[in-house]
Order: sequence, then C-alpha cells, then structure tokens
Amino acid sequence: MLIKGPGSPRLCERLKDSDSVEVRSKVFPDGEIYIRLEGDVKGEDCILVQTTYPDKHLIELLFVLDALLENGASSITTVIPYYSYSRQDKAFKVGESVSSRAIASIVSMYADKFYCIDLHSKSILDFFDIPADNLSAMGLLAEHSLMYEPDFFFSPDEGGKERVKKAAEKVGVPWDYLEKTRIDGSTVEIKPKNVEVEGKTVVILDDIISTGGTMIEAAKQLFEQGAEHVHAGCTHGLFVGGADRKLEKHFDSVFCTDTIEGKNCKVTIAPLLEKNVLN
Ligand code: R5P
Repeated sequence: MLIKGPGSPRLCERLKDSDSVEVRSKVFPDGEIYIRLEGDVKGEDCILVQTTYPDKHLIELLFVLDALLENGASSITTVIPYYSYSRQDKAFKVGESVSSRAIASIVSMYADKFYCIDLHSKSILDFFDIPADNLSAMGLLAEHSLMYEPDFFFSPDEGGKERVKKAAEKVGVPWDYLEKTRIDGSTVEIKPKNVEVEGKTVVILDDIISTGGTMIEAAKQLFEQGAEHVHAGCTHGLFVGGADRKLEKHFDSVFCTDTIEGKNCKVTIAPLLEKNVLN
C-alpha cells in the first residue's frame, strides 16, 4: 500500500499503485505539525514516499512513520526521494553533529526497509540498521538530456564523476569532469581545464543544485573554452535564494527531477520507484 507523503504529492500521484492512503498534514498556529492517515493501514505492507526538504517535511516524515506504527502497519518501507542533511555525513569540526546519521537512526527505529535517490554520500547507508539502498536517477536525466543533442556530459567536480560516467555511458555520450574547490557554503572556485568543447553542446549533471554557485562556475569555465550551448541538470533541485532565476541567465536550460517538487522538475523518478520499490 502506497502512503502518499505530504512532501511528495505530485510524485505520489504519478506512481501507478491501486491501493494508497492519503496523509493529512496541517500546521497549528504555533507552527507545530499535525499528521493523520486518511485510511486504514492495519496489517498492510506500507510504502511511504516522503521527501525531507524543507525541514517541515522531515518532521512530517517522523510523524507519519509513528502513525503507521500506531495504526498497525505490518511493515514499513520508507522512500526518501531527497535525503536532506546528506552533506553533513561526518563531523567536520569538533562538536558538530553527524546530522545525516541522526535521521538514519530514527528511520531505522520505525521502518523495515529504506530507499533514497542519488544520495550525496553513499557512506550514509551504513548508518541504517535496516536494509538500505540508493537508486540513481542519472539514467533518467541522461535520457532527458538527449533532447538537447549533447556532445558532452560534465560533472562540475571530481566527487560527481562516477554519477556522470554512469549517465553518459547509458546514452553513449562522451564525458569529463571539472575541478572544484569549495571556499565556503555559497562560494566555489572551478579551475580552468583544457577540454574540447569549442562550438559544442554540453550538459552539466550534478546530484544537488543548492545556491547554484557550482553550476554557474562550471558554466563560466565551459563558455570560456568555447562551448556554444550549456544545460544544467540535477537530481535534487533545492534552488535556494532564487538560484533558479540566477541559473536561467547562465544556462540554455535547467532541469531536475521531482525528488523535490518545483518548477524545474522536468524528469520524474516515478519509473525508478515503480521498477525497484513498488514491483
Ligand atoms: C557538492 O559536492 C554537491 O555535489 C553539489 O555540487 C553542491 O551541493 C551544489 O551546491 P551549490 O549549488 O550551492 O553550489
């Protein structure tokens, strides 16, 4: 039985599943969140799909999990399309929390199985005490990219090269990566690198677009080397602080999946969930 998490309404609508339960979510005047399942889950094997960005949806996730347990669900598979706090996968400085582990611990308390999509750091899977799997939307993004007739795929940094390699190989397009250094939360530097993109159409693929700084720096480098068209695609489009409008000035197009629902969602991960989770 599909449990339609309030953080992923359009994605849940796109999933072909005959049995489903809606979840009512409302906010009290003091900002606290109320959750109620609008159907019977007693004895059911439940699949909850709920993203966790922004934070409101993370709180909803915890309360829906509790409601499923309270109402006698037989088993719970939790699908978190965008796993927030995945960039805090370790304590970088003394005193910091490992925020992504805190989420994993709570999900493990309630659920029997866990899935996410293009998790920023796969090491997070080890924080779960239940079977945990990471699916990739890169193939879907690669297929979507074909409409731009790309000559090259690029990762904006070395950390994303395996993801982009996978996407590129799926559709038979050459690929490469750039070298990024993060200066602070909203500033990055991308070193010039000699790449053969003169007059070419390029698609830059990443897991997350947050402030857009990474993508914009990558586009500048590629345009400087003569690229004619540059498109930006990612799995998780956070687009904080109006990043989507900033990106429009630098790119021929910007696209992402519906792991976080918004206006640039041109690719749905529904087929990925249908094949791997709902089958
Ligand atoms: C970082 O390693 C990630 O893969 C993304 O490149 C990063 O989160 C994007 O952030 P922003 O859009 O703020 O540059």
